[in-house]
Amino acid sequence: MSAPFPNHPQLQGNYAPLRMEADAPDLIVRGELPPELNGALYRIGPNPQYPPRDRNHHWFAGDGMVHGFLFREGRVDYLNRWVRTPKFETERAAGKAMFGTFGNPMTTDQSVVGQDSGLANTNIVFHAGRLMALEEAHPPFELETGTLASKGYWTFGDRMAGNRMTAHPKMDPETGEMLFFGYSTGGYFTDRMTFNVVGPDGAISRADEFKVPYSAMVHDFLVTRDHVVFPILPLTGSLERAMSGQPPFAWEPDQPGWLGVLRRDAPVDDIKWIEIPPCYVFHPMNAYDAGGKIVADVATYEAAPLFPLADGTPGDPEKATAHMARWEIDPAAGTVSETALDDRVAEFPRFDERRAGLDYRHGWFGGVERRNRGDRGNWTEIVHLDLETGRRAIWSDGEAHHVSEPVFVPRMEDAAEGDGWVLFTVFRAEENRSDLVVLDAMNVDQEPVAVCEVPHRIPHGFHGNWVAA
Ligand SMILES: [Fe+2]
Repeated sequence: MSAPFPNHPQLQGNYAPLRMEADAPDLIVRGELPPELNGALYRIGPNPQYPPRDRNHHWFAGDGMVHGFLFREGRVDYLNRWVRTPKFETERAAGKAMFGTFGNPMTTDQSVVGQDSGLANTNIVFHAGRLMALEEAHPPFELETGTLASKGYWTFGDRMAGNRMTAHPKMDPETGEMLFFGYSTGGYFTDRMTFNVVGPDGAISRADEFKVPYSAMVHDFLVTRDHVVFPILPLTGSLERAMSGQPPFAWEPDQPGWLGVLRRDAPVDDIKWIEIPPCYVFHPMNAYDAGGKIVADVATYEAAPLFPLADGTPGDPEKATAHMARWEIDPAAGTVSETALDDRVAEFPRFDERRAGLDYRHGWFGGVERRNRGDRGNWTEIVHLDLETGRRAIWSDGEAHHVSEPVFVPRMEDAAEGDGWVLFTVFRAEENRSDLVVLDAMNVDQEPVAVCEVPHRIPHGFHGNWVAA
C-alpha cells in the first residue's frame, strides 16, 4: 500500500506524478499529421514513484518517466514508462521511498545508504544506436527504442572519464560525435569536471578531467565547430553547507561567473577562464564561431531560480526569470559582451539541431509575457524567433494552458533550416489532460497542423528529442 503524497507545491496540479504506465494506440488527431512525420518523440520528466522522505522535496528529484509518441503514416501511438533505475526497483520492492532527496544520506534509509540513487529524469537522447535517459549526477541509463523497456546503465564500456554525464550532451552534425561533460566528478561538490567525446561509432575518443574555479551546478555547456565552453556560474555546491543543514546548492551572487573556453583540438590544460558578472544559465539555444569570436544565445537569469541563497532564505523572484540574450565571447581579449535578443520571459530554447555549433537563423522557446505571483513558473507560449530579421511569432492557447519545451523536426533530411514542425505538449487543466501539438515551425502563430489527444495528463517535464525512423 502506497501512502498519500504530502501537500507540497511541487507535488500538486500538473507537478503531481502520474501513477500509472499506459499504452494508447492511435491517438485521436484533430487536423492532419503530415506523413513525413515518421519517427518518435521521446519526452522525459520527474515523476516520483512514492511520496518523498524529505520535507524539502524538490521538483528535480522525482524518478524519471518517459512519454513516447510514435509517428508513422499519419498516425501516432502513445506510451509512457518509468525508467527502472536501481533506485526505482529498490523502492518498488520496499513499497515506499528509501532514498532522501538527491540521495541525501541524512534522510536515506540506513539499509541503502551509499547505493546508487540515480533518477534518469532530465533528458532523453539517441546516439550511435542507443536511447539514453540522462540525469546530471549519474551515467546514462539505456532504454529500448519503441518499447521504452529499461536496459540499464551504459558507461561506454567503462571508458568514460568520471561516472557522471550531463543531461545536455551536444551532437555534432558534421562529425557525428557526441560531446559531454560531468561536474563534481571528484566526489560530492568538488571542483573537478570531466570532458568526454564519443565517436559516431559509440566509442569514447576523448576522456579528460580538469579543475574549475569553484564547485557549481553546471547544467549545460556550449559547443561550436571549433570550441567548447564550460560555464561555471555561482549556483554553488558545498559539502560544508550540506553537513551543517544549510542548502547543498545555493545562489551566491557575490561570486563572479566564469566561462572556460577550450579549442576542441587542444588539451584541457589550455582552458582559458574568462570572468563574467554573476548570472545563471540552465540552457543555451545554440553557439557558433564567428571570426575568432564565439557567439552564444542563452536563456540567462539575473539570479538562479528554484534554489535559495546560501543562508537558506529565498532569493528575489523578480531576478529569477530568464530572457534570451546573445553573448559574444572574445577568447583572445578575454571579454564577453551581452545583448538582449527578446523581452519575453523565456526557457527551454531549441533550434534546428542540424545547425548545432554552426551559424543559424531560427530558434523556438517556451515563453510568457511576465511572471505573476503564484503562477508556479509555467510557460504558456511557444515563441519563434527569426534571428536574421528579428521577427517574432507566438502561439498560445491562453494563460491556463501550459506548454512544454518545443522540439523541432525537419520536414526531410535535406530541408532548409527551419522547414518542418515544432512538437510540444500542452496541459489542459480544465480537462485534466494533455495534448501533443504539431505546429508549422515557420508559422507558429497559425492554427496547429495537428493536435493529438492524450487520454491523461503529462506532468510538467523537462526535455525531449526526436528520433527519425
Ligand atoms: Fe535542462
